[in-house]
Amino acid sequence: MKQVDVIVIGAGAAGLMCAAQAGYRGKQVLVLDMGKKPGRKILISGGGRCNFTNEGAKPENYLCQNPHFVKSALSRYSAQDFVELVDRHGLAYHHKTLGQLFCDNSAQDIVDILLTECDWAGVTVSLRSEVLQVQKQDGGYLVNTNNGEFYCTSLVVASGGLTMPKLGATPIGYNIAKQFGLNVLPTTAALVPFTLHDHDKERFDGLSGISIATSVTSESGVSFKENILFTHRGLSGPAILQISSFWQAGESVSINLLPESDITNIIKEWRESNPKKSLKNMLATVLPKSFIEAMVSQQDITDKTISQLSNQDITQLSQYLHSWQIKPNGTEGYRTAEVTLGGVDTDELSSKTFEAKKAPGLYFIGEVIDVTGWLGGYNFQFAWSCGMACGLAVDAEK
Ligand code: FDA
Repeated sequence: MKQVDVIVIGAGAAGLMCAAQAGYRGKQVLVLDMGKKPGRKILISGGGRCNFTNEGAKPENYLCQNPHFVKSALSRYSAQDFVELVDRHGLAYHHKTLGQLFCDNSAQDIVDILLTECDWAGVTVSLRSEVLQVQKQDGGYLVNTNNGEFYCTSLVVASGGLTMPKLGATPIGYNIAKQFGLNVLPTTAALVPFTLHDHDKERFDGLSGISIATSVTSESGVSFKENILFTHRGLSGPAILQISSFWQAGESVSINLLPESDITNIIKEWRESNPKKSLKNMLATVLPKSFIEAMVSQQDITDKTISQLSNQDITQLSQYLHSWQIKPNGTEGYRTAEVTLGGVDTDELSSKTFEAKKAPGLYFIGEVIDVTGWLGGYNFQFAWSCGMACGLAVDAEK
């Protein structure tokens, strides 16, 4: 049986970062992952270019039952620290909107950086090694895999959440937490497209591929100003993915289809400049034509000329366009979600080391814990921050 100081379950973003830091501290580190390749979620992230951090990442960008929990790790290893790491490796990257940083070439570059760091730190990464069971033994942990048994004094669980089961998502992390008496908060898919009720699907039939710059607001009052995208299954796009993390089954979302302007003022101008033109044609100058045509054909929007519009018509139109109500049927679930909301209760963990308070030598990092970032590089930044914090602390002499 192989014996090491630290075993990390999961060669994802958090696990590899943690393993490298522990290795640099002279710890013997073994990373176990059931996949054929390390960092499989990194490879598919950001459309293959990995949105590897967000320059503005702050605690407010994370959902967690204890909003203070992420402060320590984020402040000790910030987005700027990760940028400094990728700069040292000569990564070519670019800035997109809203502080998001993406690789110029491929997400593989990020995986290569993490593997190089692990290599320099003397970490062993064992792939196709599925962790089946964990037991407490002689003050350490016995880890049973399809490749045999391993023993360690400290065990780091970085096994991720439940999204993308095709990429090897398993509930092992939650099971280990429960086995050691830790509370696990209910999990749901987040950063995920909405599905629609049949009547809405029919209404939007033919709009697939249409994108609109909007501001979307949840019933709890959280808003995101980004694009929505009609798909053949429902609604997606960054604004929808963002709001999905704040949406509860049965709730509506309110969509401002013209967040940068006021339709009442626009119509005042049109009354001067284009009174004889149809509202439909004029609206098609500020919103996608096919969307307006669909709304007019369903009589959601009146088909009059601009001069025929009454004050009541304008008030109704303003309410409709600035506060368009959609009641999703559900979400596409873990199959397409980017992250899992909920997980190992952060009250069970030290926010400095990520060690379980009830189980010395057992650590939980990354998506398996109840920390979920917004869309835009925030989730990887949390993986780097907690991976670093845990890697610097794991298996400390007590
Ligand atoms: P992660 O899931 O990366 O790694 C866990 C590892 O554990 C996996 O490799 C798995 O094989 C392994 N494992 C699980 N069970 C095991 C077992 N029983 N035995 C052995 N190994 C086991 N975030 C972001 O910030 N920017 C972005 O651009 C994107 N884009 C994106 C796109 C898509 C399609 C998805 C699905 C997700 C994103 N994300 C993202 C989210 C991001 O990928 C996610 O937050 C991190 O990968 C989480 O990192 P972890 O290391 O915690 O888990």
